[in-house]
Amino acid sequence: MTRLFSRSAVFAAVLAALLALPAAAQNRPVDSEGHQWWQHAVFYEIYPRSYADSNNDGIGDLEGITSKLGYLKDLGVDAIWITPCYPSPQVDFGYDVSDYENIDPMYGTLKDFDHLAHESQKRGIHIIMDFVMNHTSDQHKWFIDSRSSRTSAYRDWYIWRDGKNGGPPNNWISIFGGPAWKLDPQTSQYYYHYFYPQQPDLNWRNPAVEKAMFDVTRWWYERGVSGFRLDAVDTLFEDPDLHDNPVLPGTNKYGDPNQQEIYDRRLPEVHDVLRDLRKVADEHGAVLIGETWTNNIDELKQYYGGHGKELQMPMDFMFAMVNRLSAPEFRRQIATVDSAGGWPVYVISNHDIVRSYDRYGDGQHNDAIAKLMAGLYLTLRGTPIMYYGEEIGMENNDPKRKEDVKDPIGKLGWPVDKGRDGERTPMQWTDGPNAGFTSATPWLPVPPSSATHNVASESKDPDSVLEFYKHLLKLRHQNPALLEGEYVPLNQDDPNVLSYLRRYKDEAVLVVLNMSGSAQKVSLDLGAQGFPAAKVSTLLSTPGQQGNKISELSLAPFAVYIAEVSK
Ligand code: GLC
Repeated sequence: MTRLFSRSAVFAAVLAALLALPAAAQNRPVDSEGHQWWQHAVFYEIYPRSYADSNNDGIGDLEGITSKLGYLKDLGVDAIWITPCYPSPQVDFGYDVSDYENIDPMYGTLKDFDHLAHESQKRGIHIIMDFVMNHTSDQHKWFIDSRSSRTSAYRDWYIWRDGKNGGPPNNWISIFGGPAWKLDPQTSQYYYHYFYPQQPDLNWRNPAVEKAMFDVTRWWYERGVSGFRLDAVDTLFEDPDLHDNPVLPGTNKYGDPNQQEIYDRRLPEVHDVLRDLRKVADEHGAVLIGETWTNNIDELKQYYGGHGKELQMPMDFMFAMVNRLSAPEFRRQIATVDSAGGWPVYVISNHDIVRSYDRYGDGQHNDAIAKLMAGLYLTLRGTPIMYYGEEIGMENNDPKRKEDVKDPIGKLGWPVDKGRDGERTPMQWTDGPNAGFTSATPWLPVPPSSATHNVASESKDPDSVLEFYKHLLKLRHQNPALLEGEYVPLNQDDPNVLSYLRRYKDEAVLVVLNMSGSAQKVSLDLGAQGFPAAKVSTLLSTPGQQGNKISELSLAPFAVYIAEVSK
């Protein structure tokens, strides 16, 4: 029997064993505050189709990512979250998985993954995989079997129901447009899909589904991954009695009636699954990050779970939903999440939201504003998750014509919703053709601004957005107050300038951010914070900053001022 194991299989097994950091080592606190590695880490989301194309076919791949690890290390990244790179028909660009334990050939092979994991580990960079738990592709073998007959062993792995009054079983709507039910002629029943019809929802009430999916995570942990970003956790469960959602006035951007999603979102059962999934993660010293869209802090708190037994890192999207520069609104959001008892997780962009460069930019001072936003969320208490290209001021490049749109929701919603292609364009490496991403035609075009906003050009310019990010991330890694310190808001009535301390023991870092387009004066008194005769020395600031007396700070429009405070 032993002859069944080829030499390469043995090599792969040994490599995987070597790569798997001992669970205990990963769970061990890294400092006297009891913090774990992910609390000190800077995470970076990579959309693999668009990061780096090693074989010049116009689509990024795993070897491409491996070739950029040096860049990532130099930037100050400690963990990369790779959006789905598993085999997939690519209806939703990888979020329709047809095999959870392999790599799509367009991205490479498992051997390429092992190479990436090995090279990442050498540099101290953790790998986080995307776990698409709510649904599979309709081409997954489980669904192919499930739809084949009403008596299939996999029938109950998905949600099948009879229609009602000649239509779907109830009024639920897919978030990607139209009814959330599709009639399958083969067995004359409807299956449920919260997303595209090609993404049937798994039935998490079936213990066999839970077991199979938990085993997927074990399989990747054993291959060396440090955790998962859990896709679409809000929609894992639906009301088993299929009550209609209450209908609200008006229609959404796809023309469907608005609904109050009380029966198809955030059902309490999700917390049982997350608690159990966390136990598996804990056995492997892994971290779970959640795609958690919440409306208020109470909902977000539930995802941490009682006694922190669910997600270590539920993403706070309420922060990213502050869609304009506003000192009072950011102040309110930070105070809310910072006092909630969990470890905050800040995000300002991702592959589903318009890039922060466009959302906050005023069209004239976008680079200054990109630095301002970095100065904000990379100095807060908590873990930041960057989105590739944010560090060079990449902008959205939305399709100009409907026929160019790749993302199906962009075709459906055109021109109100142009889809998500704009925020998923290739990483801009150089000022050459296709921004140095590929010598073929890239799957999405790069914007004209790639001539100036690219890694090669910005690395030579000390005032670039990229250099600012590098300085800031270096500071964040080295400064104990930025790593450990509590968040102390200052001058809370200032409508334009957001100021706070990160205070740790006898030290503090002061952060002052001018969120307005006009020059501002600020006077700070840190007596009440334990620094009556505070001395400050600048750690990092944007140009135009005069003087460093905190009783009379002058700030240029959109200025960032970060200083060390001592007694
Ligand atoms: C998540 C992903 C998004 C995807 C959806 C369906 O929201 O971030 O890109 O389309 O899930 O899987």
